[in-house]
Amino acid sequence: MKALVNDICALVRECGKIILAANREKMAIDIKSGVTDLVTEYDKNIQEQLKVGLKKLLPEARFIGEEGSSDELTEEGYAFVVDPIDGTTNFIKDYHVSAISVALLKGKEPVVGVIYNPYLDEVFSAIKGQGAFCNGKKITVSAQPINNALVLFGTSPYDKGLFGKTIEIITGYFNRALDIRRSGSAALDLCSVAAGRAELYFELQVSPWDFAAGKLLVEEAGGVVTTFDGEPLSFEGKTSILAKNGVI
Ligand code: IPD
Ligand code: CA
Ligand code: CA
Repeated sequence: MKALVNDICALVRECGKIILAANREKMAIDIKSGVTDLVTEYDKNIQEQLKVGLKKLLPEARFIGEEGSSDELTEEGYAFVVDPIDGTTNFIKDYHVSAISVALLKGKEPVVGVIYNPYLDEVFSAIKGQGAFCNGKKITVSAQPINNALVLFGTSPYDKGLFGKTIEIITGYFNRALDIRRSGSAALDLCSVAAGRAELYFELQVSPWDFAAGKLLVEEAGGVVTTFDGEPLSFEGKTSILAKNGVI
């Protein structure tokens, strides 16, 4: 597994160069589920490169990616769950908060998670049962209680009907915590919790590719990840998410 993870880290680092070299002025942008749900030629290009590269590393694994056609998740066997650019709106805006996320699931549970932030050249990696790392250095969640917490949240931008409830929840956290943040990348929010840079992240609607790798990273760093209501997360469709350190 360790050799496989090293190979995946090398692959995402290569793909990260595509993000850094992108020509944002001339790039093709398409609308997906609605006018705020966008995909660029670079999302598609990176997904294709990941598909080819991951297939070479583990030919028997299925492939599920955000962009384009995907295999089904099954009870047995391996499946890669990939988000080629998490934080596409940030990428389009040149906001410098986007990442490449690759998880390997065995059956329906992640056994490997790799997330790469090309802007900071940080690669986060975890193997089930073997801890979580950032650029090879072990990371752990923080031990801070809610009154000393940085609380991260996502706005579920592709279902704007959820915003009222999101604001209600984040208002509650804002009153109890140190401060709140909205980054625009669910994968990097999960890395921040795993690395102890923030204490909690929640979002009312995310997709499996947004959190598959990050969930394992947080858990391997000592944190807890569930739905917002505290139920186990499903990798079969959209869900809410709540990730926190072991104290809150
Ligand atoms: C989105 C980002 C965003 C989160 C959304 C995700 P995308 O992913 O992670 O932070 O709020 O729920 O869908 O579309 O940029 O890959
Ligand atoms: Ca995403
Ligand atoms: Ca994406």
